[in-house]
Amino acid sequence: MTQRFDAVYRQSIDQPNDFWREQAQLVDWFKPFDEVCDYAQPPFAKWFVGGQTNLCHNAVDRHAATRGGDNALIFVSTETNTEITYSFKQLLEQVQVMAAVLKAQGVKKGDRVLIYMPMIPEAAFAMLACARIGAIHSVVFGGFASVSLASRIDDCTPTVVVSADAGSRGGKIVPYKPLLDEALALAAHKPAGVVMVNRGLAPMALQAGRDVDYASAAAQQQGVQVPCEPMASTDPSYILYTSGTTGKPKGVQRDTGGYAVALAASMKHIYMGEPGETYFSTSDIGWVVGHSYIVYGPLIAGMATIMYEGLPVNPDAGIWWQLVEKYKVSVMFSAPTAVRVLKKYDPSFIKNADLSSLKALFLAGEPLDEPTAQWISGELGKPIIDNYWQTETGWPILSLANGIEPAKSKFGSPGVPMYGYNVQIIDENTGENQTQANQKGVVAIEGPLPPGCMQTVWGDDKRFIDTYWSSIPGRLVYSTFDWGIRDEDGYFFILGRTDDVINVAGHRLGTREIEESLSSHSAVMEVAVVGVADQLKGQVAMAFVVLKDAPAYSTPEAQLKLEGELMKVVDGQLGAVARPARVRFVPLLPKTRSGKLLRRAIQAVCEQRDPGDLTTMDDPSALSNIKALVQT
Ligand code: PRX
Repeated sequence: MTQRFDAVYRQSIDQPNDFWREQAQLVDWFKPFDEVCDYAQPPFAKWFVGGQTNLCHNAVDRHAATRGGDNALIFVSTETNTEITYSFKQLLEQVQVMAAVLKAQGVKKGDRVLIYMPMIPEAAFAMLACARIGAIHSVVFGGFASVSLASRIDDCTPTVVVSADAGSRGGKIVPYKPLLDEALALAAHKPAGVVMVNRGLAPMALQAGRDVDYASAAAQQQGVQVPCEPMASTDPSYILYTSGTTGKPKGVQRDTGGYAVALAASMKHIYMGEPGETYFSTSDIGWVVGHSYIVYGPLIAGMATIMYEGLPVNPDAGIWWQLVEKYKVSVMFSAPTAVRVLKKYDPSFIKNADLSSLKALFLAGEPLDEPTAQWISGELGKPIIDNYWQTETGWPILSLANGIEPAKSKFGSPGVPMYGYNVQIIDENTGENQTQANQKGVVAIEGPLPPGCMQTVWGDDKRFIDTYWSSIPGRLVYSTFDWGIRDEDGYFFILGRTDDVINVAGHRLGTREIEESLSSHSAVMEVAVVGVADQLKGQVAMAFVVLKDAPAYSTPEAQLKLEGELMKVVDGQLGAVARPARVRFVPLLPKTRSGKLLRRAIQAVCEQRDPGDLTTMDDPSALSNIKALVQT
């Protein structure tokens, strides 16, 4: 029984204004808000209307003022063998320098700044500096390549881009500048300036009049003071692109005040982090987990946060646990895939570290399978808390609020709806709530979405409504596009996506984007990409291609060569993160008589499952070909 949590949850749904007014006390306001929630124009929710605050003030300044010497940002790179710790006071200095550099480049309140960077402290400085001066940042994951980057540049039209010479992965240098230059050449929008951090990893040519070397620019700003801009609670703080059904990524727009409050509340009630403790999230700043739980959440809570560049198994599979010991990490956050990687190694890597500081390990981003959960739970001897959420929501939809009241975990379930989220399982045909236990449906959220969730799609309110709020007949509810069930105890189980989004090693990818990229190769006539279950990565992308001139590629050698070429196309355009595991060649793709591609049937066949009802299929041989191919 979780009586206390149940009462808190009910209050958050029945009297949301009272609930969130209280949570809002966890952050500093420059001007108090007049209204907790304005939901006069559903589905657009405005939180803490009339209030003014600043994310950077809450994350940095207020702690620098009271506990300036405490650790704030701990940077560890096992790629470059670097370890630097910044106290809150030092972080404040660094952020002000970056803010001054951005201002000198002409960045003003409301302008966009695109951040394309590896996991280095300057990336966090840039995010916080934007928040400080009221610029809207858009961080693009460093694993994305030029076409992905160009489409984001054109969508958010940044005044300035902040980047670095290179990242490094497993000892391999990944130059960023050539990809950035290519993206800037491709994009119609031309940013006024490009600020380049030179790590000395890869040669980089600066384009005169456009590119600025960060170290030289920063040298002129040492000791500078740049005040925090008072931001309206509803002012956008950032845009983060994510994949959906269409090929065009959506810019998830986040507000300022609602996000600050939601993160502060989640740090207390869900993650149980206390000021002065250390938080270690193994994600990347290019993803939502990096935004909420590497940069903003822990710092807002007054915790030190670890930014880690490197593999989980380098120099050995004990590196993360050694960091837990060294920095007395109290809360750790990772993804199931990372745990599945570590599971291949000797558990003594875990046992040899002193993990007494660690309260819990949180896992999110993809389904946590039971064997993985059991293994890590057994080896670590600490609570393992699965939490389910999305780029769109910014913080957990489903989890356990152990900071309010300890609840029991159920392996395979990411828990129960968190305060503020009125979650329903809905029958996608009738639009009715599934009221019985274990009935499958779409996981949906009744509006208003709680603070911290997306405000809209950047520059496209209509797309926000059409995409998220219009897919369930007769209902204005937010669809997560995940299938789910709720058991008799109210615990949810997530059963996969309802749309064409796949999840590879916790990375969310749109199959349409990969299809579009493959289609750009001159040999390709048509292509279908599906996500197929994989023991290590959860899912991998599989591509099936119909060639314009199949006889030209009839030999296995020619096909292998073309497969390699097609993978390179995806690497170059979208990034290796989106590269299909295999590209197979087929004479035709399974479609309905009206020409709709039957991706689900392809996926089922690839996973050796029953493809279900195929009465609408045009030519059954298309599917049997694929079946024969994947079984060989
Ligand atoms: O399908 C769900 C899956 O990842 C999607 C969201 O991915 P992203 O926008 O990258 O946000 C990740 C934030 C942690 C969801 O729609 N997903 C996320 N967490 C879980 C999950 N599936 C099952 N269990 C989870 N804990």
